[in-house]
Amino acid sequence: MTALMLPQLFDIVPDALLLVDAEGRIIRANGNAERLFGHGNDGLVGLSVEALMPADARERHLQHRLGYMSSPRVRPMGQSDQVLVGQKADGQQFPVEIALSPIETAHGRHYLASVRDISESQRVRQALVRASYDAFIARLGQMALDAGSEQQLVRSLPGMLIDELQADAVALAFPESDGHAIDVRVAGQINGEALCHILSSRWALLEASLPVDRATILDDRQLELLAEAGEGFACGAATLLRDRDHPTGILMVLSTDTRPIQHDILHLIQGVAVLVAAIMQRRRTAEQLAHAQRLDALGQLTGGIAHDFNNLLTIISGSLQLLDDEYAPHQGARDLIAGALHSVARGASLTSKLLAFARRQPLAPQSVKLHQLVHDLGTMLQRILGESFSLTIECHRGLPPAHVDPCQLETALVNVVLNARDALPGNGEILLSVGEQWVRPQEMEELQAGHYIVIRITDRGMGMSASTARRAVEPFFTTKSMGQGSGLGLSMVYGFTRQSRGMLHIDTVHGRGTTVSMYLPVATSLPERVLPPRHRVEGARQTILVVEDDPGVRRIAVSFLQAAGYVTLEACDAVEALAIAKMHPETALVFSDVMLGGAMNGHALASTLREQLPGLAVLLTTGHDDAPDVSPDLGHCGTLLRKPYRREDLLVAIQQLIA
Ligand SMILES: Nc1ncnc2c1ncn2[C@@H]1O[C@H](COP(=O)(O)OP(=O)(O)OP(=O)(O)O)[C@@H](O)[C@H]1O
Ligand SMILES: [Mg+2]
Repeated sequence: MTALMLPQLFDIVPDALLLVDAEGRIIRANGNAERLFGHGNDGLVGLSVEALMPADARERHLQHRLGYMSSPRVRPMGQSDQVLVGQKADGQQFPVEIALSPIETAHGRHYLASVRDISESQRVRQALVRASYDAFIARLGQMALDAGSEQQLVRSLPGMLIDELQADAVALAFPESDGHAIDVRVAGQINGEALCHILSSRWALLEASLPVDRATILDDRQLELLAEAGEGFACGAATLLRDRDHPTGILMVLSTDTRPIQHDILHLIQGVAVLVAAIMQRRRTAEQLAHAQRLDALGQLTGGIAHDFNNLLTIISGSLQLLDDEYAPHQGARDLIAGALHSVARGASLTSKLLAFARRQPLAPQSVKLHQLVHDLGTMLQRILGESFSLTIECHRGLPPAHVDPCQLETALVNVVLNARDALPGNGEILLSVGEQWVRPQEMEELQAGHYIVIRITDRGMGMSASTARRAVEPFFTTKSMGQGSGLGLSMVYGFTRQSRGMLHIDTVHGRGTTVSMYLPVATSLPERVLPPRHRVEGARQTILVVEDDPGVRRIAVSFLQAAGYVTLEACDAVEALAIAKMHPETALVFSDVMLGGAMNGHALASTLREQLPGLAVLLTTGHDDAPDVSPDLGHCGTLLRKPYRREDLLVAIQQLIA
């Protein structure tokens, strides 16, 4: 039985049927075929079958047809995963499935082709694939939320992707923080170690060859790179994982067969990469936050202790200085007192570092030209370092000034340079370079957008291990032996840069060296003018009102002043001080602590006095900047005396105001 014998059947089947002779000419077509290919009644008869396909497929088809006709059997046309394309009379193309069968007729052997338009089912299939990919991403997101452990997700992701994409290998690679090692998670037929090696040696090349914002199909050059690792992959796709502007890793899918990688797969890879990058960024931010919170908590603790300790030191040092007068004729006693005063000075330097870490050091920021400062300091530092170390300074004259406390900046630089020296093996080079940088919004987590001066100190010394780097700025953290380091150097630098609205950044590679960068805001105002003293009262035995809530500290100040011939009045808070000052118009100066009990602090007292008793001079003292974000307006009194103060410092400051 042949189709020719059953013309009715030929016309009622739902598929398009074509009967072709041994030359490939169409000798009969049903109505469905004419409609499908857009040819009118009997329009197909006499055409070559190759006329029903795109021009670029015709030659290949001819070869296949001759092959088929030499050993014909019933079978679908093309390979299982091959998409066949038909072409209508108007040139429009569409996907088709074709079944072939040889038919013996009275006129010889013919061939029947049953053609089905699969546009619709292909669309459905693609939609299904896409839905499955979307579900995959959703599953990944859910896992990230549920597990809370990104490590687990990162570990299982390559295997999951292999299953989803039927790929041969998937690699998720991250360079370690030292920029040399690569952490690769692989699954499938892939030699992880060899790939790891090739990725670490060619990381920069590979990273630079990938587009920044999308997944891409690997080209021959990129595949060749991987082939060096002994892997013969025929095709692959990859994308960068990004954290803000920086690439942090690569996700790569590889396959040994030549099937082209579909757009949907690229889309999936990109989606996965974005998700993984977001998860990792979240973890990093959480870690940074926890670290910053720990440092803040430590800062509050040490700041509180240092403040109390400073008051104790003020009392001890004051008492010792008064005793020194009493025992003037006794050399033995004076030696003891001098020794004790020396220890007080060391204690004061310790508390000053702790206060700096806690961001409570009273700072006097001003517009500072770095060129002069670093060159002057450099000469001094070179002397401390000795001849076996060389300190190179790079700083342009044309840099804008920084807004910073110059004394504290010098202390910070000394700390960092001495650390660099300690990291070098007895000799070596230290580079101190000063530059400028514009920081864009969101570019650096700890820094507001703006214009900064950046001071970098680099050594090629021992560097820090990851755990040392994590703890380096903590107060009292040191890897140096007893007596060699107190662990307060970087703590001071950290607190000082942050209190100055800048940032400390440490780049270090174990065994290779360290660069410590200090970001400091560029000064927007001109160098500050020192105001002349507002008020001068002539005559001896002037009256000074001492305002201090700690009775021990107050007693010391009063004793210093009385011994110098001043008349003193005392108040323990701002309210009492205002009342006493009004009752005693002879008062020439108010000497007040900044930190006072009660609602009003020293700054508030100073401005109230300035309004209500404008003729009165005010000198403030503090061991501790309690409101680090409010820069105190000291213009009206010109001076802030740092605790613990020496008697001479106090008297000089007073004489400058009311000489
Ligand atoms: N340039 C550097 N190279 C290698 N390690 C460093 C460097 N700078 C700091 N460190 C490490 O950080 C630790 C803390 O440094 P920090 O300056 O706070 O304290 P310290 O130098 O140990 O003591 P201190 O500065 O109080 O005398 C050091 O003990 C050291 O392990
Ligand atoms: Mg140090």
